[in-house]
Amino acid sequence: MQNLSDPFDVCVVGLGYVGLTLATALASAGLRVAGSERSQDVVDLIASGQSPFHEFGLDEAIQAVVSRGKLVPFSLEDGTPVADSYVITVGTPVKNGSVYLEDLKSAVSAVADVMPDGALTVLRSTVRVGTTRTIAEPILKDSGKKYAVAMAPERTIEGKALAELSSLPQIVGGIDENSTQLASELFARLGVEIVPVHSAEAAELAKLASNTFRDVSFAFANELAYFADQSGVDVYDVVRACNYGYDRMNVALPGPVAGPCLEKDAYILSNSADVLGVEVPLAMQGRKTNEFIVSHVVNSLLPDMNSHTPKVSILGLAFKGRPATSDTRGSLAGDFAQAMKSKYSVTDVAGWDPLVSVTDAQKMGIHFDELDEALKSDVVLIQTNHRFFSSEEFYSALERNEQPGRVFVDLWNQLDAERITSMGNRLIPLGRKIIDVKDALV
Ligand SMILES: NC(=O)c1ccc[n+]([C@@H]2O[C@H](COP(=O)([O-])OP(=O)(O)OC[C@H]3O[C@@H](n4cnc5c(N)ncnc54)[C@H](O)[C@@H]3O)[C@@H](O)[C@H]2O)c1
Repeated sequence: MQNLSDPFDVCVVGLGYVGLTLATALASAGLRVAGSERSQDVVDLIASGQSPFHEFGLDEAIQAVVSRGKLVPFSLEDGTPVADSYVITVGTPVKNGSVYLEDLKSAVSAVADVMPDGALTVLRSTVRVGTTRTIAEPILKDSGKKYAVAMAPERTIEGKALAELSSLPQIVGGIDENSTQLASELFARLGVEIVPVHSAEAAELAKLASNTFRDVSFAFANELAYFADQSGVDVYDVVRACNYGYDRMNVALPGPVAGPCLEKDAYILSNSADVLGVEVPLAMQGRKTNEFIVSHVVNSLLPDMNSHTPKVSILGLAFKGRPATSDTRGSLAGDFAQAMKSKYSVTDVAGWDPLVSVTDAQKMGIHFDELDEALKSDVVLIQTNHRFFSSEEFYSALERNEQPGRVFVDLWNQLDAERITSMGNRLIPLGRKIIDVKDALV
């Protein structure tokens, strides 16, 4: 067992998606990195050279740094390691509309107890604007030691995190110049450009702005799709025409917008505005528009099945399909399952995904099935744009399991209309006209 008081270059507190990828990237860059993690199971897995979740290239990278002693995971129960710098990467979920900061506070307290005089603490978790200065700093100050504290938000996308950690510019904002300088030096070790901002608050808002901007952009595409479904206009036709040769427009394509970040960051921006007594109506409307997709699909796209009780299934259970992930946090698959159970008066919704575990599917109220079994359904909802759903392997599975009259509801316009309908299926895409056997798109 490594000595906790033999100082590490940096200690990353919280080895989830963000902490583990960052700790691995810093260790790969040559730093001696400690990881502090609450879950003993996660610590044991990492110590054995494995990642607890699917992330491209991460298993190999962990094995390399753990075997060389560059990354050492510690259980929180063993105490927090001594290090020159700390990066806090604990979860900050939204509960009942407000960001939950208790894990972050206890992580900063644990750091304040053991840090050497003058150590740097960086918040990496997504927080309400003002958290670095009004919540983290007072805890560090109470230790009576000298400290530096900054915000350097995580902006990687799950599925490409390692590649992005070595390429994306890092936004850094401290509570003072020394803090910004120290945090910039730490993140420069990743070999990337540093974008210093004038305050910790600017860095906090930059993170919330990044995700809210994406959320609102996707909401606009979904709003067009909802309109298209009522009017009969093809939203893909419209988006293609708008974007073609016209640099001033870059409209996104419609589809479910979910995940552990986008589902909550507009709410955290709204929490930040509440503190100031102002509102962020555009951000909140974007979120609500994206949340509306479940009702829209259930009420406008899913077919009525009055003649019998249908067998229903969902393909693609992660919160997104590209880049591929096993993560179901914030996935709308559970909400769609609930809505389908109620629409069709069924107790069972089958599901299948190339990466998601049986247990995670069960947690969403979905019974994970073999692909062939899930395809033997009357209504199949394609919930993500995972590449598998446009692969030959998928079409072979369809050929093995032909079922005339089966309805595919395709939320990502992934399916090949001609092939699907020629097998006797009906196709209902989001934002396009309904296609049946005699009406295949060309
Ligand atoms: N997931 C992403 O790709 C992503 C991207 C950008 C920003 N963020 C933000 O980064 C933060 C972390 O996200 P995540 O997805 O990694 O969360 P996560 O829940 O996967 O990981 C957090 C980890 O911290 C551990 N933990 C909690 N309290 C602890 C403590 N006091 N000491 C030690 N360990 C503790 C938990 O056991 C967990 O393993 C959140 O604020 C999130 O909004 C996430």
